[in-house]
Amino acid sequence: MSDTVLRPAATASRGGPRSPLMEQYRRIKVEHADALLFFRLGDFYEMFFEDATLGARLLGLTLTSRNKQDPEPIPMCGLPWHQRDVYVGRLLRMGRKVAICDQLEDPIAAKGLVQRGVTEVFTPGSVVGESFLEPATNNFLAVLWPAAAGLGLCLVEASTSEVRLAECAWADAAELLSGLTVAEWIAPEPARLPEDLCARCEALLEGCSGSRTFVPLEGYLDLAPLLSRWNEGASALGDVPLAQAAAAGALAYLDRVQGAAALASPLVSRLVDERTLRYDAATARHLEIFQPQPGGEPAHTLWHHLNLAVTGPGARRLRSWVERPLADETALGKRQQAVQEWITAAVERGSFRDTLRGFPDLERLASRLALGRATPRDLGALRDALQRLPAIAEPLVRRGGEVAASSALLQAGIPELEPTLRAALVDEPPPTVREGGMVRAGFDEHRDRLDQLAHSGKRWIAELEAEERERTGIASLKVGYNRVFGYYLEVTRAHLEKVPADYERRQTLTGAERFVTPGLKAKESEVLGAERKLEAREQELFVELRDRAARHVPQLQRIAGALAGLDAEATLAETAARYDWVRPALDGSDRLRIADARHPVVERLLPRGEFVPNQVELDGTRRQILLLTGPNMGGKSTYLRQVALCVLLAQAGSWVPATTAEIGLVDRLFTRVGASDRLGAGQSTFMVEMRETADILRAATPRSLVLLDEIGRGTATYDGLALAWAVTEHLHASSGPRPRTIFATHYHELTQLAETLPRLANVHVMVKEWGDGLVFLHRIAEGAADRSYGIHVAQLAGIPGPVIARAREVLRELESERTVEHLSARAGRPIVRRDDRQQALFDAAPHPIEETLREVDPERITPLEALELVVEWKRRWGA
Ligand SMILES: Nc1ncnc2c1ncn2[C@@H]1O[C@H](COP(=O)(O)OP(=O)(O)OP(=O)(O)O)[C@@H](O)[C@H]1O
Ligand SMILES: [Mg+2]
Repeated sequence: MSDTVLRPAATASRGGPRSPLMEQYRRIKVEHADALLFFRLGDFYEMFFEDATLGARLLGLTLTSRNKQDPEPIPMCGLPWHQRDVYVGRLLRMGRKVAICDQLEDPIAAKGLVQRGVTEVFTPGSVVGESFLEPATNNFLAVLWPAAAGLGLCLVEASTSEVRLAECAWADAAELLSGLTVAEWIAPEPARLPEDLCARCEALLEGCSGSRTFVPLEGYLDLAPLLSRWNEGASALGDVPLAQAAAAGALAYLDRVQGAAALASPLVSRLVDERTLRYDAATARHLEIFQPQPGGEPAHTLWHHLNLAVTGPGARRLRSWVERPLADETALGKRQQAVQEWITAAVERGSFRDTLRGFPDLERLASRLALGRATPRDLGALRDALQRLPAIAEPLVRRGGEVAASSALLQAGIPELEPTLRAALVDEPPPTVREGGMVRAGFDEHRDRLDQLAHSGKRWIAELEAEERERTGIASLKVGYNRVFGYYLEVTRAHLEKVPADYERRQTLTGAERFVTPGLKAKESEVLGAERKLEAREQELFVELRDRAARHVPQLQRIAGALAGLDAEATLAETAARYDWVRPALDGSDRLRIADARHPVVERLLPRGEFVPNQVELDGTRRQILLLTGPNMGGKSTYLRQVALCVLLAQAGSWVPATTAEIGLVDRLFTRVGASDRLGAGQSTFMVEMRETADILRAATPRSLVLLDEIGRGTATYDGLALAWAVTEHLHASSGPRPRTIFATHYHELTQLAETLPRLANVHVMVKEWGDGLVFLHRIAEGAADRSYGIHVAQLAGIPGPVIARAREVLRELESERTVEHLSARAGRPIVRRDDRQQALFDAAPHPIEETLREVDPERITPLEALELVVEWKRRWGA
């Protein structure tokens, strides 16, 4: 992605022809060295120098040059002005910034060089225009403040004015950032930072996607704009000096690129606090919450199935609940209560969702209003939305309860504003101010008079055609208009001799001549004058109206917030009803009991009824650790993930895929997936896995939930086993973290731990052997698995017969060699007590012929079947 420093680029000081235009370009470019400069020339936006080379490459435009004859021609490429936003959008998605340099005066009226200046700067993290944003996702700008005491972070969603603050010690900084999806990172200029802070900052940002900008240090140090602009909400956050510095940096940057006082009405909150369930980026990846694994499809994610929200703000709100689930009983109780009400009120839910379709994004609209960027169409949408709100809210208010409380806000609307918008705006206002025609007739006397004047003049001109045809006898005479000559009378060459003396020639075409008359010119200046004044008056009225609406931004934000919350809650009710989910009972206990738990995604991908539900029974005091064994493909990973997803859903306020669920609230959720399930990640997968495991051992608490999927597998067998063994013991130890844990493993030796660790229980996934094959039952049962069936699974996968047969031989040898002493020596301590049950574990498996012989009933088998059996044995083992 683009790494840029806000300093004058070499481009601008380079030599070359010094035409006044290029001088002007250079002056402007120096101020926007970090952006591609779109420079308006006539009907085109042009890029020059390095911008042109880069822009042409990124956008697939033709690279030309401005002064081809010159020894040093200036590279140039351009795009039609009306396609600007399409190209800006593409560059933003590539992480680039774009500065728009427009003509500040009418080129026709201008004397000499047209005045130009930058009117807008687009950057990936600061855009507010709806066409550049995804409706259902936030677009974050993250501003970092590296200090000796730790890291300050200010996360800004410019399009909705949401601001989230955080600060932490350096040791926790990587974790803080790892879960964030950020479009643009901002950090102080490296040159001005102490070297160690600079290095820390760089290390943090390494591997983070999103574009980066380094900004002057001064912005961080000036707290005055922050203190003057921020409301009570922000000051209630307490003492967070590092985050505050980051916020000051954010304001300085946004003020600059947005060219206005940014974040005038911010919604400030803390990014993390003790009342949320935390999980890191690795866990989100393993569980495929928002993103599928590489090569997977969106339908593999939880979000794909959960997000049935009707509006963009509703989807964003729901997403934030899943990103930061709650760990607070009271707050969850309130959310559950609202979801419950929506479930009961199924009819109201349906009509609420129906009426909400196509509803404008009021959160983003409020931000554009606050920035002075709202368009006439925005105000029209606001008017229509305000008008619709009472009818949407009324049935909800009538039902009472939690839902009624937020609906009351909608019902109240903004009575001080709505009638004015209705009186002032035409039914369908245009998308931009330029076009005019925004103000409704009857709203402003002055405007109406100008409108009248312009219209009557135009009517006079339209009637002129008929009059002049009659006067001159030229039936083909036409009245026309163009931008250079204004109104004219056009006469074809054949009739030129009939032209009266008062006609003045203006323009000669191939087949015709164009004339004006003094009367026409007088009318024209009257019309054009009136039109210009009308436009100006409309703009004036519009700006007044917009400023007036902007005074109600905080009120509008509250309404928008309530509506987003209602949409998100109704969505949770909708998924619960649609997927047959159940309300979980949540408390502060250490229990985790889920009856008939299903995987919310896998269940949807399988044919109806094929997913096998399973029981989950954990508690911190008696059954803290479940050790899950069983064959490959048995369903271990699926089980682990469904437990994690049920907890996550429950604490987001959702219902869960089960028949009953009791969940003692979880403070942190850890999932680790062994090397075998990882795709190439650049660095040693075992190293990553161990680092992640170390994090768990360091950070887990008795309220955490830890799900380990085959850790220790990416190294030599005995090292892996020994590590897994020690990790399990540590998680169990009374002096250790003691989180609720499920550990899926192929190390059967670990199942012996049940003998020594009282809070550990063995469970396994069941399979049935069927002749040579296996039937996966996907059912979890008590006790350890008896064997691993890896070779069976390999056979199912199509490994050739002779290889399978040889593998069985090798397995038998290995298993007989694998002595207890050997294992103990590798683990560095005696790990196995010899008793009969243990010994059986290490005994060689019986040969398949022996097994089949045991099962065959000679009374029932036909001679032909017996013969077939012998032929098969001969084929596989007899050669
Ligand atoms: N409860 C279930 N009901 C129906 N199908 C299931 C169930 N659990 C798992 N499956 C199916 O079985 C397949 C394998 O499951 P999973 O990956 O969880 O096995 P595993 O035991 O982790 O295997 P391995 O040891 O190779 O990692 C899944 O892709 C899924 O389609
Ligand atoms: Mg697995």
